[in-house]
Amino acid sequence: MSLDGKHIVIGISGGIAAYKMATVVRLLRKEKASVQVIMTERATHFITPLTLSTLSNAPVLVDYYDSKTGEWNNHVHIAAAADLLLIAPATANTIAKCAAGLCDNLLQAVYLSTKNPVCFAPAMDLDMWKHPSTRHNIDRLVEFGHHIIPPTTGELASGLVGEGRLAEPQDILAFIQQIFSASPQPLKGKKALVTAGPTYQAIDPVRFIGNHSTGKMGYAIAEHLARQGAEVTLVSGPTSLAVPAVGKIQRVQVTSAQEMLEACTANFQDSDILVMSAAVADYTPIQVAEQKIKKSDSQLHIELEKTTDILATLGAQKKPGQLVVGFALETQNELENAQGKLARKNLDFIVLNSMRDSGAGFAHDTNKVTVVKRSGEQLHFPLKSKSAVAEDIVALIAAELPAKDAQSARR
Ligand code: CTP
Repeated sequence: MSLDGKHIVIGISGGIAAYKMATVVRLLRKEKASVQVIMTERATHFITPLTLSTLSNAPVLVDYYDSKTGEWNNHVHIAAAADLLLIAPATANTIAKCAAGLCDNLLQAVYLSTKNPVCFAPAMDLDMWKHPSTRHNIDRLVEFGHHIIPPTTGELASGLVGEGRLAEPQDILAFIQQIFSASPQPLKGKKALVTAGPTYQAIDPVRFIGNHSTGKMGYAIAEHLARQGAEVTLVSGPTSLAVPAVGKIQRVQVTSAQEMLEACTANFQDSDILVMSAAVADYTPIQVAEQKIKKSDSQLHIELEKTTDILATLGAQKKPGQLVVGFALETQNELENAQGKLARKNLDFIVLNSMRDSGAGFAHDTNKVTVVKRSGEQLHFPLKSKSAVAEDIVALIAAELPAKDAQSARR
């Protein structure tokens, strides 16, 4: 794909992989992109600005001021002109500074001023890449909606072998082309609230009542909503899943049904879409023991009370224009039960999983669903990966939203 008309700002930070950027600049220019290179002071020790200015056909910027002309390099203008900012190689230091919002050089100032897509291509030694601090910083960049071009595995400058090599120039080019060729995003400007995973209801300080939900379905829905341009708040019960590395997804981690209710209530008013895929506990212990319950009698009775039905509560508050999707996990009378829930909870769609279908439900990577619409229409989907099921559900949401928008306009 040609990048004709695209202006790409490249920020080079100080790592040995900086030498590969000569090839990246050349490849981008070959695809007809215009390129502006910014370097950190340290990067200039690894590759000369002269090499890069020759290849990019533009002066390379390092400081806030041009020492020869005395002119100010206006970071706001540089950022505004960028169709995309590529930070490569992104060192652990530059990644940490971007995650923390520091602004001690021109590259940081441009990064903080950029509104268009930002891609990071990290490169560092394998232990630096694995360090919890770097992991945390990468997660933050992903939460900000940035793209990460993952480093590859191989021989590193230190002589060690592992993950941390800058992606190959051809792959960096392909990644950028893919961003520009991505299909139009029908959910751009929409806010979505998605719940995922189980809830844990405490019995005592060390025990809880939970369920087998992994969160995979909800995380896949959050990912596909973000891919279609929605700004997603992902309220997640305890899971081991990472925030999907696409678009704008902000995760709120909760443990109990009550915490999930509070997080959802705080976000629902502002949301255009709610997808309630979490497996919320229906009952919770009335008393949570302050100390670990000791083994004594042969039987132990724990008294439970109903939790608030989050979906029914929010469904009752639904305004014209808001689209609400629930899930139903059933073992018998599936369609009848699902339709009952759809009406009771004031939903637009309900996604029905039957535990009778093999490969569906918790702890599988696949799912088989039937979507029942408020109109009564039923859509039966075959067994698919959870990601493909999420794609189907998001496509139905995107198709329904224009009618919702019209509903809210008529108000
Ligand atoms: N749900 C909720 N709050 C609860 C329980 C469930 O928001 N306290 C939501 C789930 O996230 C799901 C939908 O309600 O989207 C249906 O959940 P499900 O467990 O299938 O149904 P329940 O209404 O709990 O009824 P039952 O367990 O009797 O089938």
